[in-house]
Amino acid sequence: MPALSVHHIGYLVKKIEKARQTFLSLGYHIEQDIVYDDIRKVNICFLSRDGYRIELVSPASEDSVVAGLIRKYKNSPYHICYETTDIETAAGELAANGFIAIDTPTPAPALENRRVVFLTNAAIGMIELLESN
Ligand code: NI
Repeated sequence: MPALSVHHIGYLVKKIEKARQTFLSLGYHIEQDIVYDDIRKVNICFLSRDGYRIELVSPASEDSVVAGLIRKYKNSPYHICYETTDIETAAGELAANGFIAIDTPTPAPALENRRVVFLTNAAIGMIELLESN
């Protein structure tokens, strides 16, 4: 397995401006302001504090990839993202160990178009892999 390092915690929010303001009031700072991801139809913003990076993800339309998830989870953390130098090998090895890929490695506009892939696992839910730049 290629090395994995935690990159961010993905956090679903209904109202990204209000969520961002609330995290700022908790002492987080903005790492990257709101970017629209036209592949997934979500708005994304990165905040951090104490070495923890939070990704706010908010659906921008009814057919967003997270439209269903937000009905289920409301405002809530929903994935941990792991950065890796070899996304194909890492995804393949995870798939051989109880994870199910729910898409294929696809560029992420909010992350310099580095590719990401999402996988789910019966015991821990959803994770994301991000290729290193
Ligand atoms: Ni993420």
